[in-house]
This record gives sequence, structure tokens and C-alpha cells, in this order.
Amino acid sequence: LSDQVKKILVVEDDDVFRGLVVKTLKKLKHELFEASNGKDAKELLLLEKIDLVISDIQMPHVSGLDLLNWIKTERPIPVILMTGFSKALETREAHEVGADDFLAKPFREAQLFELVTKYLGEKIEPPAPPVDLDPEFCRVSIADFISEKATEYNIFIRISNTKYIKIAHSGGKISDERIKAYQDKGIQHVYVKREDFSKIVGFNLGIARVVGHADHISQAKKLTFMKHAGNLILENVFVNGVDKGSVQYAKDFIETSMGVMTDDPELFGVLDILSNHADFVYAHSLGVSAFAVMIGRELGWHSAPVLFRLSMGGLFHDIGKKEIEKQLLEKPRVQLTQQERGKIESHPTRGKEILQSMKTVPSEVIAIVYEHHEDALGQGFPRGIGPLEIHPLAKVVHVANIFCEYAVKYRADMQPISPLEAIAMMEGTNEKRFDKAAFGALKKLIAKR
Ligand SMILES: [Fe+2]
Repeated sequence: LSDQVKKILVVEDDDVFRGLVVKTLKKLKHELFEASNGKDAKELLLLEKIDLVISDIQMPHVSGLDLLNWIKTERPIPVILMTGFSKALETREAHEVGADDFLAKPFREAQLFELVTKYLGEKIEPPAPPVDLDPEFCRVSIADFISEKATEYNIFIRISNTKYIKIAHSGGKISDERIKAYQDKGIQHVYVKREDFSKIVGFNLGIARVVGHADHISQAKKLTFMKHAGNLILENVFVNGVDKGSVQYAKDFIETSMGVMTDDPELFGVLDILSNHADFVYAHSLGVSAFAVMIGRELGWHSAPVLFRLSMGGLFHDIGKKEIEKQLLEKPRVQLTQQERGKIESHPTRGKEILQSMKTVPSEVIAIVYEHHEDALGQGFPRGIGPLEIHPLAKVVHVANIFCEYAVKYRADMQPISPLEAIAMMEGTNEKRFDKAAFGALKKLIAKR
């Protein structure tokens, strides 16, 4: 995938110039490595799966040419050499050895970006704000506190990456005016201790903590996972034209929720399976999660525990597909045999079983997963139950799921249709199968943009 984060190694003995190049390249979303000589560069190349090397041509000990030679015999990755006017001879030799491109010093930012883009794929947008990964703190949207009375936890604001200042004590009250004043100053988020976030959303992490202290999930793995999730949400999943404020809220909420879920080894396992299964199942799940949260808010549900269950239910709704082969999942519905159809339609039941075997999954989440294909006409599957029996949260995920099937782009080769067209298609099938309130909320959400 061209929009994945790639690894670039910059080799240059002049510290100031190298710093400048690295600083410039950091504007792209790629991960950067640097070495001040060819020897260190080789070591890095052995340790890291580097995608592109940008190297000076003249360096002490192992020159840029030697390095190029070594790379071209060891690993087939593109090498861009930075050349100067006085290095014409080396440049010619480098071309013969197989340098992929040359960058004449001094060069402008645009030239550098153009070459990087040439080798690493399409232009990458400037990086999004970093995912909050401080192990102790969780980010919470300040909007969640509007309906809150006395807090049961300490609340912090973040001053820097490592510094947090307490703005409210557990048991104290935050007045609406104070929240308003913070919002006016542009503060969107406050922070709470991680264990307190679990309290806020009514989610029990206690068992997982005792069992393993969640230590066997490496921070690095979590980081990769969160980055991946964040990128998908930001770049691939959302359709254009949905109200930006709602999208931002949903994105923040899911990121924070996922941060807490990854503390629980079992839930982390599920997320991991999801992210490793067919890409589109995962991307689709993120989209459904986000739209479920947005629809929920539009319905006036501002309680964090409710929204947390919606986001979790949206994420896990198709987990029962994990044992179904990818080819079958990608097969057009009309081409399915009756047996294949039965297999696919068993996924809500299978999903329910998987989540029931876990200790920490709230019962409402299990209901969402089990009932996300039931409809208001009583013609859904697996049970065909009617609107009085379907869990209210499952009705929301049902609508979000169908909408995302139409509107969300989850494969590079896919042309998503516009949100309004997706709504029109939903109206065109049989509108009565959707929960009226949830579908109405979705339409309002789209109209708001
Ligand atoms: Fe499903």
C-alpha cells in the first residue's frame, strides 16, 4: 500500500546538513533513520527494513559509492545520492553501479519531496497529531463532561508530551462555565488516568490487569497497531462530506477506546485478528464503529458508557467472519450458493460465541454483534426477530453497517459513492427495514456537513 508509513535512511557526515534533510523529510509521514557514515548505515540496513536510502556521495571510511555497491548486491532498495558540483566523476560511477537517482546540492524541499514520492508512492499528507500513547493518561473529549456532575476522578490538561497538570480533583465539580471557558480557549480534550477512563465508560479491566498486567503485549506492537488504526480512520475510511466536528469527535473517541481495549490481552487479541484478517473487514469495522458513535450522538446519547459500547460493538460486529475464507467474503452476494450464504449468515452467531468466551466484554456489545443483521421488518438474520426484541444499540449499528457498505472506501480500487447517494440507495431498497430514529439521525448527520 502506497499510503503506509515507509522507512527512509538518510546518510550524511555533515551533522547540520543531515539534520536539515531529516527535518524536512519529517514533514512527510514516513519514519526516518539517520547515519553519519557508511558503516553505521550498513548496520541500520541490517536491522531495519528500510525502503529508501538517501546518501551523501563522499564520506569518510565507507563512501557513498561503497555503500551503494553494498546495497545493490545485498538488498534491492532504491538509493538516491546527493551530489555536489565537484563530484562529477563519482556521480558517473554511481550511475553505473546503479544509483536510482541523484539530487544535486543544494536542493529545494520540493525537489526532495518529488524524488521521495517517486520511490515511495503518492504524496503523503502532513502528519496528523500523534496518537496519545502516554501509558498513564487517556484523552477524553471535553464535550463528554458537559453532562457530568461531580467527577469521580482527577482531570488533567496536557502541557507537553510528558507533563500533565491537574485541573479538577476527584469529588469536585467542574462548572459548565469553566468547561465553556476551556473550549473557548481551544482546549478540545482533557486527560484522565487510564484506570479512570475505564470507570468513565463502565468497562472493567480489573481481571486482565491481575492476570498479566498486560505486559506481554509489547508497547511497540500496540504503537504499530494504534498508528495503523489511526491512519485507516483518517485517510481511508471516512467519506468526504460528513460533518467535520462529528467525525473528529468519533475519531477521538475510538482512538481512546482502542487505547483502553489494547490494555486487555483478550480484546487486544481480537483487534489484532481483525486487523490481520481481510483488510476490508477491519477498515469496514472502523467505519461502522465511527458512524455508530456519530449516529448515537445525533440521537442525543452523550453518555460515555453508551458511546463506548457503540464503538466497541461497531469494531467487533463482524468478528464472527474471522474463520470465513477471504475469497468467500469478497464474492458478490448474487453468486453465493445457498450453502455459502448460510456460512456467511452464521457470522453474528459465531461472533456472539467468540465474545461470550471473554471475560470483559459488556453484554450490550454481545447483543450488538449478535443482532446487527436483524431488521425492523423481522426479516433479518440469524433469528429474524422484530423491532421490540432488537437491542437499541444493535439498531444503530445495523444502520451504520449498511451505510458503510455503500459509502466507505475500504479498498484502493474501490470508488465509494457519495454519502447522499448511499442514503438514496438505502431509501431505495426498503427503508422500513431500518430503525426510523437511527436512520433519521444518519440523514441529519449527512445533511449537516
Ligand atoms: Fe455483519
